[in-house]
Amino acid sequence: MLKVGGSVITQKKKPFTAKLSTIERIAAEISGARVERLVIVHGGGSFGHPLAKQYSIKQGYSGKRDQLLGFSKTHEAMMTLNKLVLDALIQNNIPAVTISPSSCVVTKSGRILTPIKAPLRELIDKDFVPLLFGDAVVDAELGFTILSGDQLAACLAEQLGAERIVMGIDEDGLFDDDPKLSKSARLLAECTLHELKEMRQRMKSDNSADVTGGMLGKIVELIPAIERGIPALIVNAAKPRNVYKALKGEKVTGTIIQK
Ligand SMILES: Nc1ncnc2c1ncn2[C@@H]1O[C@H](COP(=O)(O)OP(=O)(O)O)[C@@H](O)[C@H]1O
Ligand SMILES: [Mg+2]
Repeated sequence: MLKVGGSVITQKKKPFTAKLSTIERIAAEISGARVERLVIVHGGGSFGHPLAKQYSIKQGYSGKRDQLLGFSKTHEAMMTLNKLVLDALIQNNIPAVTISPSSCVVTKSGRILTPIKAPLRELIDKDFVPLLFGDAVVDAELGFTILSGDQLAACLAEQLGAERIVMGIDEDGLFDDDPKLSKSARLLAECTLHELKEMRQRMKSDNSADVTGGMLGKIVELIPAIERGIPALIVNAAKPRNVYKALKGEKVTGTIIQK
């Protein structure tokens, strides 16, 4: 399972701006790594988040029709970004097939309800590379909400029995503090489940502008997968070769999180 962060493939501060050369480089690295049985999830970055925020999609449907349009626009923006990723993968001879979460995932109070029914296993068995993304989805309690790429990646990794989860972000891995805010933050080369849970407690007091919770959201989603024995490796996908090395199982700067 590979999750590529929206912060990596878009300019997070510039709405609807993709980092095309980064998308192409990562696609080439994925191609070069020749992983068998791969699923890719990407985040929303400056495509999904601004619209989701503007229309309060995560909070659910308040009954205003305007919000329905907001849901459509959020999903459309995600498909626009997805098309760029899909194009780059196909250009690099990766038989990627997009599965749109809004068409096959239902959540309840923001959590994925049931095993995802899309023909994921069948596609993987035929050597396709399913490509999914964080999306606006229907929710049994809220009407609709935002499903983060992080939750989707962790949940699919569990459902499919993935060997491991590689998370590509825009920092060198998991730090003991937010590296964007603290200059003295140290990179953790390794992190146990116990340490991860401690970090979750500490981070809960912080606030984030991101609708899907930034690093705290990632930690929260990864914990159940790691509990079930699926290790996660967080690497800097904004730097060349890291995604390649992580997928190949080569030594790479980053954080290994395991039980
Ligand atoms: N302890 C931490 N270690 C690493 N990054 C952190 C930490 N705390 C907060 N962050 C922030 O979380 C960000 C990653 O989350 P996010 O922006 O949601 O990425 P993505 O687009 O990959 O989902 C990093 O860019 C970093 O600024
Ligand atoms: Mg995020």
